[in-house]
Amino acid sequence: MTLKTIGLIGAGHIGSQLARLGVQHGYDVVVSNSRGPDTLKDLARGLGPRARVGTSAQAADAGDTVVVTIPLKNIGDVPVAPLAGKIVIDTNNYYPQRDGHIAELDNEETTTSELLQRHLPSSKVVKAFNHIYAAALTTDGQPAGTPNRRALAIAGNDPDAKRVVAQLIDQFGFDVVDIGPLSESWRIQRDTPGYGPRRTAEELRKDLAAARRYAEQ
Ligand SMILES: NC(=O)c1ccc[n+]([C@@H]2O[C@H](COP(=O)([O-])OP(=O)(O)OC[C@H]3O[C@@H](n4cnc5c(N)ncnc54)[C@H](OP(=O)(O)O)[C@@H]3O)[C@@H](O)[C@H]2O)c1
Repeated sequence: MTLKTIGLIGAGHIGSQLARLGVQHGYDVVVSNSRGPDTLKDLARGLGPRARVGTSAQAADAGDTVVVTIPLKNIGDVPVAPLAGKIVIDTNNYYPQRDGHIAELDNEETTTSELLQRHLPSSKVVKAFNHIYAAALTTDGQPAGTPNRRALAIAGNDPDAKRVVAQLIDQFGFDVVDIGPLSESWRIQRDTPGYGPRRTAEELRKDLAAARRYAEQ
């Protein structure tokens, strides 16, 4: 698949930085939020001519690949039909104080990405960009081959979709460590060792192996 346009559902800390990276690397981007396109005109102006604004449905429709980067409690609002068959990058994390308690995440029966995958059954959800502070997305990237380059983790159930997202992350300036299926994405959730700090691929692999379930922490 040729990735030309990145749709963004959510244009806050992470969404705006990913839009910036997308434009810098030659992609068209369509940004959206909950309040409507009019509230995004300044952001789009700053991003330049490759950026457009739209509703969530329009961003979902326009994107060859679409990023969902909103508070987890709102993932039920993400439009389903326009995302069928598409790669959906999921940056979301679970914070009960923001999202309210979600029992199946509290008891770790599932993961945040599997909840999004359940909501989007025909999409190919790939967890990515959830363990890096938004500002670091545009400051920590380095060209491939740079010694001690920072690495980011991905997880997903579709190998081809993971390959596409891994290429994008590499283009954006980071090495990639594949955790495995979405069910393993808990290894990079809040309060795990790899969540937040700058890590090389080797360090991140160690962190992922050392991750413990909430009940065991
Ligand atoms: N901040 C970080 O450093 C960071 C790092 C990694 C992962 N994350 C995770 O990534 C996600 C986004 O984080 P963030 O910090 O970027 O959040 P944020 O700055 O609060 O931005 C959230 C964005 O989502 C939009 N939004 C909210 N509800 C929506 C809905 N129902 N439909 C469409 N758009 C909606 C908001 O639009 P309005 O403003 O119009 O409501 C806003 O543009 C969260 O799950 C967070 O935990 C954050």
